Amino acid sequence: MKKTIVITSGTSGIGRGIVEQLFQTTGDEIERLFVNYGHHDQAAQDLLSSLSPADAQRVTFIKSDMSDEAGLTHFLEELLSYTDHVDWLILNTGIGTYLPFEQYTFELWNKVMTTNVTVPAFLVQKLRPYMRENGKILFMGSHAGNVPYSSSLVYGTSKAAVHFMARSLMKYFDDKHVCINAVAPGFIETPWQKDRTDESRQRINAKIAAHRFGTPQEVAAMAISILKNNYVNGTVVEVTGGYDYF
Ligand SMILES: NC(=O)c1ccc[n+]([C@@H]2O[C@H](COP(=O)([O-])OP(=O)(O)OC[C@H]3O[C@@H](n4cnc5c(N)ncnc54)[C@H](OP(=O)(O)O)[C@@H]3O)[C@@H](O)[C@H]2O)c1
Repeated sequence: MKKTIVITSGTSGIGRGIVEQLFQTTGDEIERLFVNYGHHDQAAQDLLSSLSPADAQRVTFIKSDMSDEAGLTHFLEELLSYTDHVDWLILNTGIGTYLPFEQYTFELWNKVMTTNVTVPAFLVQKLRPYMRENGKILFMGSHAGNVPYSSSLVYGTSKAAVHFMARSLMKYFDDKHVCINAVAPGFIETPWQKDRTDESRQRINAKIAAHRFGTPQEVAAMAISILKNNYVNGTVVEVTGGYDYF
């Protein structure tokens, strides 16, 4: 049976890498791929142009800002106007902040937690009835949720919560045998990292066994491998190049 796949924040960086690799590795199995993004139409257009015409025809974009309940509701209304089932749900949306803890406001804390934790949690709850038997849910976590290296306390806290959801939610899907996991990348070369200084990169690279940032393709390959595996469940899989080995 062909798959209906949903990915949030799929037009840049890791999300785009997953979309491209889904078509490269799983193309024949895809019935429709719903790709969410929040703001930038051009990035969606660029992604569409990079796909073959046959693949592009199977993509439906859903523009919705997934940082609050209104955005979540809008996304769900759009998605469910197109489909009554989901096979693979990939929850890739995540935001961070580099503000120091001392300067946090309630508003900032709540925005990161709502975007990274609350909206994905309720997306899973609302789509639960539509998940097909033997479906898959994959969260995008972060090594920052496992190890307190991050300069961003709220980001690390949110990703730790994401990992906890990935480890715990499967019990709510026992009747449908849906596998739920997370990928926890280390430092990945995406627009997220564009403002990092050379000094910061060198300091980080010295701590990575691979001595470089990872690529979106390397994270995508792990994500798809987990999605295709029926016996990986409740697990957080790291893709860090070997962080903090030095
Ligand atoms: N890069 C890393 O080093 C790294 C490491 C560990 C984990 N991660 C995680 O990987 C995920 C993707 O990160 P990335 O590095 O690929 O980022 P990225 O290249 O900066 O892309 C971010 C994506 O998120 C979308 N987005 C941002 N705010 C949104 C919102 N409110 N609603 C819907 N979509 C929104 C953006 O689309 P619009 O601009 O159109 O909104 C864009 O498609 C995140 O969960 C992040 O925490 C990244």
